[in-house]
Amino acid sequence: MEGLLRSDQAARSAARRDEEAIREASTALGFDFAYPLVSGLLRAYRLTSVLEFGCGRLAHLKYLRDRNGIKGWGLEIDSRIAAASTRDLQGTAYEGVLQVIEGDALSPGSVILPAGRIEAVVAVDLLHFYLRDRERVLAALAGWREKLPEAFFIIVEICRGPGRRAGRSPLPKAEYNLCHRLTGQALPAERDWLELFEAAGYRSVRKFVFPSLEHGAFVFRSAS
Ligand SMILES: C[S@@+](CC[C@H](N)C(=O)[O-])C[C@H]1O[C@@H](n2cnc3c(N)ncnc32)[C@H](O)[C@@H]1O
Repeated sequence: MEGLLRSDQAARSAARRDEEAIREASTALGFDFAYPLVSGLLRAYRLTSVLEFGCGRLAHLKYLRDRNGIKGWGLEIDSRIAAASTRDLQGTAYEGVLQVIEGDALSPGSVILPAGRIEAVVAVDLLHFYLRDRERVLAALAGWREKLPEAFFIIVEICRGPGRRAGRSPLPKAEYNLCHRLTGQALPAERDWLELFEAAGYRSVRKFVFPSLEHGAFVFRSAS
């Protein structure tokens, strides 16, 4: 920790990502912030079929099923998590309305989508992790736009405010963002998201920025 606080490069590289802890923390915060936000946006645009990137153990999709009555598909890169989530659905009220697809959101060409219309793609705090390779994210977004030209694309993401320093407020989100800073992950600002999606052929339909949480919600659609 001391090395991280000194912005020591070696300490940053050595910092281990505890995926399990990240998943739990992200889900816990999701219930307070991202999930209700996405639920409201889906309702506002009357969207009822959703593909979520990085569905994990399906907490978000189950929330949206319960609140919005959606039909949902979750794309999950980790085969163990995808299998466990699929097993969890069996024999529950979610079986047949939620489904897990194992695959990489950054490789749209390799993902086989189910039959049926997907009206919205949703990604919560996922894309920033890959933004150190902006070209890769750009290509993936362009690929999804070609694959799902009609779909709304909703992201809830880190959104760095101008000149703000993380860690000044005792909010859990601030701690979360401070951790991203210390480990050298991308902390994009509102403009970065708008430029990224525009370069990938999208137009911005709606956005909300929450400076105290250093997060924003963005709704995009294909520009053509
Ligand atoms: C922080 S968890 C969020 C889980 C879920 N959205 C929720 O709210 O409970 C992020 C998940 O995204 C998955 N993931 C990370 N990169 C991915 C990618 N490129 N494609 C698909 N899933 C990915 C991780 O394996 C992890 O399960």
